[in-house]
Amino acid sequence: MCGIVGYVGSNLAYPILIDGLKKLEYRGYDSAGIALHTGDGLAIYKKEGKVAALESFAEGQNLLSTIGIGHTRWATHGEPSDRNAHPHYSNSGNIAMIHNGIIENYAQLKSELQQKGYTFKSDTDSEVLLNFIEDIKVNNDCSLEEAVRIALKRVVGAYVILLLDKDLPDTIIAARKGSPLVIGIGENAHYLGSDASPMLAYTKEVVYINDYELAIVKADELILKNIGNERITPFVQKLDLELAAIEKNGFDHFMLKEIFEQPQTIFDSLRGRLDGGQQTITLSGVDKIADKLMAANRIIIVACGTSWHAGLLAEYVIEELCRINVEVEYASEFRYRNPIITDKDVIIAISQSGETADTLVAIETAKKQGATIFGLVNVVGSSIARLSDAGAYTHAGPEIGVASTKAFTAQLAVLYLIALKVAKVKNTITDDLYSVLVTDLVKVPEHVQQILETQDQNIREIAAKYTDARDFLYLGRGYNFPIALEGALKLKEISYIHAEGYPAAEMKHGPIALVDEHLPVVFVATKDSYHEKIVSNIQEIKARKGKVVAVVSEGDNTVTSLTDDVMVVPLVHEIIAPILSVVPLQLLSYYIGVNRGLDVDKPRNLAKSVTVE
Ligand code: F6R
Repeated sequence: MCGIVGYVGSNLAYPILIDGLKKLEYRGYDSAGIALHTGDGLAIYKKEGKVAALESFAEGQNLLSTIGIGHTRWATHGEPSDRNAHPHYSNSGNIAMIHNGIIENYAQLKSELQQKGYTFKSDTDSEVLLNFIEDIKVNNDCSLEEAVRIALKRVVGAYVILLLDKDLPDTIIAARKGSPLVIGIGENAHYLGSDASPMLAYTKEVVYINDYELAIVKADELILKNIGNERITPFVQKLDLELAAIEKNGFDHFMLKEIFEQPQTIFDSLRGRLDGGQQTITLSGVDKIADKLMAANRIIIVACGTSWHAGLLAEYVIEELCRINVEVEYASEFRYRNPIITDKDVIIAISQSGETADTLVAIETAKKQGATIFGLVNVVGSSIARLSDAGAYTHAGPEIGVASTKAFTAQLAVLYLIALKVAKVKNTITDDLYSVLVTDLVKVPEHVQQILETQDQNIREIAAKYTDARDFLYLGRGYNFPIALEGALKLKEISYIHAEGYPAAEMKHGPIALVDEHLPVVFVATKDSYHEKIVSNIQEIKARKGKVVAVVSEGDNTVTSLTDDVMVVPLVHEIIAPILSVVPLQLLSYYIGVNRGLDVDKPRNLAKSVTVE
């Protein structure tokens, strides 16, 4: 949530900052702004709206500077507006600051500052923090670095802050707690970002800043200190990421590119882990906590949104195959409801970004109570990955589209591997079933390829028919129920059409009242043990004149003849089917969103990485 960039070096800062903000726009796009040190002093340009609006606004201004900071905002305190856009000036105008996160005790700090005569131009908590820092600097007659250190000891909340000081024309001061910060090391230059994407074009050497660390960044020097003012040696890591991975490569949107990347990304998440010939599974993260896993009282899965849906499917699969009790928790609820946790519990935290605030705090809480944490994360080096006792990366590559697609299927692929591996060791799966599932899993990338090739045009046509619908219902049973939830979430995010996911049979206990000739009902109806039941549910909807669109297995003439439209996926074992069923639903949402003229990569009000609770 909110993207931050910084640059100090020998080149012009403005184009580097703008380019970086565009790469981070997926984190929020309510407003954008930059601050430059022009040699004489500070210049701030900021504008409500996307980075493009800032660019038009800044045209013709004095942008000659080799040091600057930039921000793209997802509003928390204060509506999206020019006034609330970052960077902010301190009251004296001598310091400029950008902030990603939330200052929880800002109201208290603000009233203290107001009593001292400070005034505020914005409604943000960030401007309060900035003036709090300025007040400390003036009262203690100390350096900005020292003032930041003192201020942060009193601040409650999450932050990454970058500051420019009028009196320090060659330095950016940065600090982090709870929100991500990466510093890239270039030739006589340093790059700062919420993630590594803004610096990828310039350097592959990066330092991930930890909580309670402070950086003093100049073109030729990076000094890292902890909050106690002790120097820390920066741990430089090499990025294993290519620039092409964060570009659209000819697709109209990142979302479409990411949907079409899935044959490769699922393959990548299985590569080196699943040996189809030998039928073996290698997952070093699972080996690392094998004793805990095998003896676990229960597995608790914590996640949010789409990652939670992956967790829900994992519950069905792990309980079926491994006979371990699994609970799936919304991280935001789990962290606040005083759950009973013991050292016999294993927590699986699922997160694409690895930075989701609720998931992060949920695992911190569980860890303190003795649980073992396994992180299933996409972004390498992210906070959740680092806090986990063991884990596995999903290897889906950078996901830029705000709606998660390829990260979800990669999560499912790895969760299947975990379930199969544990089941094999625990001997809770028959050799035959293990072999069928492994064989089907190996074939998933080619099956997804087949869906994309054969269904794309068909789904465009289906999308055209339902683009103007007001509501949608998504229904599925068993393993396909989490996919119904995911299909509904995807549609509402991308098209702003109201959509609900429900267990198909539960529909009779309420939602069926919504059904009439205007309501499209999407059934996830691939062949499984409950197939006859879902056929009955389809008939119940048809009897009430509902329009039925179904995801069906190849060769399913029964459902095809009953429904208005079908999206066909290859026939595989019912446990593996959901990873295929979700793909047509992703495409359906995408095309409906595009038909409605919406910015599917940046849906309104959303942000990719939810680093506030
Ligand atoms: C939906 C979506 C969100 C995320 C959720 C968790 O398309 O992307 O629901 O799944 O915000 O994010 P991560 O997985 O980064 O923890």
